Formats: sequence, C-alpha cells, structure tokens
Amino acid sequence: MQKTQIAPSLLAADFGNLDSEITSLEAAGADILHLDIMDGHYVPNLSFGFPVIRTIRFLSKLPLDVHLMVTNPDFHISLLLDMDVQWVSFHQETFYHSHRLIQTLKEKGIKAGLALNPGTPIGTLEALLPDLDYILVMSVNPGFSAQDFIPSAIYKIWDLYNLRKKNNYRYLIEVDGGVTAANAKALKEAGTDILVSASYIFSSHDYSQAISALRNA
Ligand code: DX5
Ligand code: ZN
Repeated sequence: MQKTQIAPSLLAADFGNLDSEITSLEAAGADILHLDIMDGHYVPNLSFGFPVIRTIRFLSKLPLDVHLMVTNPDFHISLLLDMDVQWVSFHQETFYHSHRLIQTLKEKGIKAGLALNPGTPIGTLEALLPDLDYILVMSVNPGFSAQDFIPSAIYKIWDLYNLRKKNNYRYLIEVDGGVTAANAKALKEAGTDILVSASYIFSSHDYSQAISALRNA
C-alpha cells in the first residue's frame, strides 16, 4: 500500500504571510497543496482566484490540487489548463458534461477528480469511475473550513475502496473536511490515499508535528 499523502488546504493559512506559510508546509513534509476555489454561488463563501493561484504556483514546487466549488467549472478549467497545476476536481452537480471535462483535463496530463458531497451517493459517479484519477470525498458540506467531520464519509470511502479493488479501477481516494489526528486512522483504514486538512494543521503550533500525526495515525 502506498503511503498516505497529506494535502494541507491553504484556506486556513495566513494569507498575509503566504510565502512563509508555504515554506513551513514544505519543510514540514506536505506532499500536495490543496487550493479551495469558492465562487459565492455554488457554495456561500468566497475564497480566492487565479492571481492567488499563480502566486502560489510561483512560491512552491509542490503539486497543486485545485478543488473547484464553482457553478461553472468549465470556465475555470479552461484557465487552469496552462497554469501548471497537477490535480483538479469539481463537483459533478455543477456541470452536465462531466465526462468531457474529465477528458479535457487528462489530455493535458492533469489528474481529474470529482467531488462527492456528504449527501451525494457514489452511484451517481458509477459511469465515470473507470476514467477518474481521484475521488474527493467531502466529509463536511463544502464552503468553510473548521466544520465538524461527518462520520458517514468513512462508509463511502470504504465502499469506494472495495469498488476499486473489485473492478481494478485506479482512482485515488481523497478525503476533505474535519480531518484531524483523531479520525485519520479510521480514514486510512477505510482506504483513504490523500488526507486534506486546513484547520487541524494551521491551528497547530508545529506544522511538522501535525502533518506527521496525520500521516502516522
Ligand atoms: C471545505 C474545503 C476544505 C476545507 C477543509 O469546503 O473544501 O478543503 O478547507 O478545512 P478543514 O480541514 O478545517 O475542515
Ligand atoms: Zn477542499
């Protein structure tokens, strides 16, 4: 089994000190940077957009994982294609032609993911499972960091893990929302490959210790 990757979500970072925040995360062993893009429509909150993504790209060599919480992912993806980002996920409820958008990403060598809200069953993704590079299982309702973990996500991860094994699919399973050292072990045992975390990491005084606690839970 490959080691669990840790993807800090910059949503809870100090944006006044982005450079030093990213340097600290890199030194602490972060594998991927998770960027939450919110448009105030699909989710109530606003986060940041392309100028900030470009700055983050300039500041870090780590792979960037862009999580689109927007009503028009096709527009955002058209701009992301040439921005040297490595992973892009969107919410399937936001776009009629998910399959086409997934192919567009893959043609550019970008890993394509779909995000599943807590209330969205796996069955809605069934036809796309062979094509996906990853599935982002939301363990909170999207829009904000520092919400409570929704435990039913663990069953969804377990089901995705078993489906992958049974059918020889190759998608990775990423979990996002309320992830802490207290639930990381159960998430890993259920089959999670990538743990996203914002508030748990950024509220700790020692990013290195927080990241190791997630990885080694
Ligand atoms: C929520 C975002 C998450 C969020 C996670 O909509 O997709 O990535 O930043 O924050 P925590 O880890 O604090 O729940
Ligand atoms: Zn996210």
